[in-house]
Amino acid sequence: MSTNIKNNLPQTNQLTLGVFGFGVVGKGLYDVLKSTPALQASIHKICIKNPDKKRAIPAENFTNNAHELLLDENINVIVELIDDAEAAYTIVKTALQNGKHVVSANKKMIAANLEELLYLQKKHAVAFLYEGACCASIPIIRNLEEYYDNDLLSSVKGIVNGSTNYILTKILEEGLGFKDALLQAQQLGFAESNPALDIEGHDAANKLSILLAHAFGKIIETSAFLYSGITSIKLSDAQLAKQKGLKIKLIATAQKVEGNKLAAFVLPQFVEQHDELADVSNEFNGLITESSFADKHFFKGKGAGAYPTAAAVLSDIAALRYNYKYEYKKYYLQTDYELSNDYYLKVFVSSNDIDKINKEDFEWIEEWHNEATNNWVVGIIHAGKLLENNWWKQPGVSLILNQNPIVTNVEYRKINKKSLELAGVV
Ligand code: HSE
Repeated sequence: MSTNIKNNLPQTNQLTLGVFGFGVVGKGLYDVLKSTPALQASIHKICIKNPDKKRAIPAENFTNNAHELLLDENINVIVELIDDAEAAYTIVKTALQNGKHVVSANKKMIAANLEELLYLQKKHAVAFLYEGACCASIPIIRNLEEYYDNDLLSSVKGIVNGSTNYILTKILEEGLGFKDALLQAQQLGFAESNPALDIEGHDAANKLSILLAHAFGKIIETSAFLYSGITSIKLSDAQLAKQKGLKIKLIATAQKVEGNKLAAFVLPQFVEQHDELADVSNEFNGLITESSFADKHFFKGKGAGAYPTAAAVLSDIAALRYNYKYEYKKYYLQTDYELSNDYYLKVFVSSNDIDKINKEDFEWIEEWHNEATNNWVVGIIHAGKLLENNWWKQPGVSLILNQNPIVTNVEYRKINKKSLELAGVV
């Protein structure tokens, strides 16, 4: 007896898409959709800002009237792929209110409005998916939502911005200048339209904010935690790293620390050659999760660019066919964990002028190096002090985290040190 396997498949939903944006990712999505006809998803219309711009596909595909998509009852999915976060917010909000499912890749918009967007998708019983907003092709949000649901996740850390990783690779490993490396990242479609979002760390911070929601159920604005980018890293820092056999990467970390504290930060960090993240180069992203029972997992994939991002958007669209939604279980469960800046970091700070380094802020200093224009210290500092004080963000000063940056037992070590001092041992 022959069975028709096709007939046994569940009924699929026909997806009619209204797409906002036809930039790097929008065009990438158009191409990947053409290559996946089995998906049963078709683009009905694409809304763009500038109707006069010459496009790669016929003009009848486009409109510049957002309502044509948002009010069209035939469109059941809005795919938002524009880079203006405020306009994206209005589009997404209206689409959810109009009962349409939404797929977005706009990390800035999501990080800034997640609480409200979560409320709206629940209220209107629609799905809001955004895998493409965090590490592009790496399916990290769905893994955090589903796989780590029952496991005791203790940390998520990694490289979450493709442009800065591309720039650091080109500068530190291939000797290119910063400007040229940035230009390449822009030309390859990795960087944001405003590349300051990448190089000053805002983009990575937005992604960390999204990770915090799905990993630990905490919706936290980026202003609440410590972050910086790669603009202050100096050639002398890179040379020193090379001498010590280390690499420098911009790393986002969310980690449970003592008590019920959750530390979150995005900072440049020294990475040992044997660390999984050391081999994450160019526009690739890499994430390491640690949890009590599963132990360590390492995810690596392209973190920027047209097709890697479009692939994640496509996967979200495909997931709508079986009514997939994020459940935000950890958020609704409300665990005891709270974001805290009350923890200590081991940092390397270098400066062209020793007086720019505020030595008073350190709990203790382990290494000193004084040379006319190349001064550096390695010491232990309270994260809250770094968040409050900006001396380490002055021109000419760079701060890079130690390989294992979070330092515990600081109070005990301070007492110990004090008693040794009193006893005249040190
Ligand atoms: N500008 C971003 C990056 C694009 O470089 O990672 C992908 O989110």
